[in-house]
Amino acid sequence: MSVTKSSAEAPSPGSPEPVAEPGPLVDVRDVSVVFRKRRTLAAARQVRAVNDVTFHIDQGETFGLVGESGSGKSTTGRALLKLVPTAAGSITVAGHDVTGLRGRNLRRARRSMQMVFQDPYSSLDPSSTVAASIAEPLIVHEKLSAKAARGRVDELIEMVGLRASYADRYPYEFSGGQRQRLAIARAIALNPRFIVCDEAVSALDVSTQNQVINLLERLRTEFGLTYLFIAHDLAIVRHISHRVGVMYLGRIVEIGPAERVYTAPAHPYTQALLSAIPDPRRKSERIVLEGDLPDPARPPVGCPFQTRCRFVMDICKRRVPEHTAVEGGGEVACHLQTSGPTLAGSPLNDLEPAP
Ligand SMILES: Nc1ncnc2c1ncn2[C@@H]1O[C@H](COP(=O)(O)OP(=O)(O)OP(=O)(O)O)[C@@H](O)[C@H]1O
Ligand code: SF4
Ligand SMILES: [Mg+2]
Repeated sequence: MSVTKSSAEAPSPGSPEPVAEPGPLVDVRDVSVVFRKRRTLAAARQVRAVNDVTFHIDQGETFGLVGESGSGKSTTGRALLKLVPTAAGSITVAGHDVTGLRGRNLRRARRSMQMVFQDPYSSLDPSSTVAASIAEPLIVHEKLSAKAARGRVDELIEMVGLRASYADRYPYEFSGGQRQRLAIARAIALNPRFIVCDEAVSALDVSTQNQVINLLERLRTEFGLTYLFIAHDLAIVRHISHRVGVMYLGRIVEIGPAERVYTAPAHPYTQALLSAIPDPRRKSERIVLEGDLPDPARPPVGCPFQTRCRFVMDICKRRVPEHTAVEGGGEVACHLQTSGPTLAGSPLNDLEPAP
C-alpha cells in the first residue's frame, strides 16, 4: 500500500477525479452555532457564528468552504466533529447522528472523523518523535502493541510520501510541507471516512501546497475519503473541490458545483471574491469589497451582505433572501433572483450596478 514520492508530487490536476460512490456521507440541516461573548460581568452578547446552515457532502466528495476571516468556516467544521455544541439543526456523519452523540459513542464515532489544521503542531507533539505522535491513536484506540503500532506508523509515513526511517525524528526537523504530510498520516491512522481540512495548506508556499493537495487527492481516491476543505484562498479550493459553499457572516450565501460557481457566480459576494483572484485572461475588472464584515453580534436586518453590496435594494434591508436554484447547479441566497432585475437562477456576470 505504500506510495512512492514521485507519484505524490505529480503535477496538480485541473479538477479533482470524479466521486467514486455517490450518496451523502455528511448531511447538515439548518445548523446554528451560538457563542456567548462576555463583555462585562453584567452583560454578555451572543455571536451566531453559524446561522441556519444546510449542505451535504457525498461519499468520496470534496466540499470546499470559502469566505473571509470570521465568516464561520472553522466553526462549521468543528460543529461537524462535535468540537463545538450546536444551538439548532441536525448533523449526520457516516450514519452517526452527531448532535446526539455522547460519551463512549462520541469517542467511537470520532475515529471515523478527523481534522487536519493549518498548524501541524496541533496534532504533532513538538516534544515527541513523529513515530510516538502517529502511534498514539493506534495504541489508545486500536489497542495495538508498541511493536505493531510502529509497523503501522512506518506504513503510514510511506503512504504520505516520506521515508519510514524519518519516524524517529522530531517535528522541528522537518519542513512545513513534510510536517503537514505527517499530520495527515496521523489523521488517517484510524482509517477515518471523513476529514475536515481546516486551512491545511494555507501556511505553505505554492509548490508545496500543490504537493500536499495532490497527496490529499490521491488518498481520497485510494481510500474513498470524503473531505470538507476549508480555505480563504479561493484558487486553492477550486482545484481540489467538486462542490463549493461560500460563507458570509455565518450563512452559506451560495453553493454549487465548483466549475459553475467559479465561472458563473450568482451571488455578488462570490463575484467580488473571485474578481480578486489574479487572472490575466479575465476581461472584467476587480470588484473592491468596501468595509469589513459587520459585527457578528449585531448582524444587519435582512441580507447579511447589504452593507457591502453594489446591487443593494430596499427589500435587501427588510428580508433575509431565501435560497433559489441556479442554472448549472446549486443555490444562491440573493433577492436579485426574485426582485429588481429578476435573474431567476441566471448568473450575475452581465449585470451592471445602477450608477
Ligand atoms: N470559541 C469561540 N468563542 C466565541 N466566539 C467565537 C469562538 N470561535 C469563533 N468565534 C467567533 O465566531 C465567528 C466565526 O469564527 P470562525 O473561526 O468560524 O471563522 P472562520 O471563517 O474560520 O475565520 P478564519 O478565516 O479567520 O479562520 C467569529 O466572529 C469568531 O470571533
Ligand atoms: S440580497 Fe440584496 S444586498 Fe444581498 S447580495 Fe443580493 S442584492 Fe446584494
Ligand atoms: Mg478558520
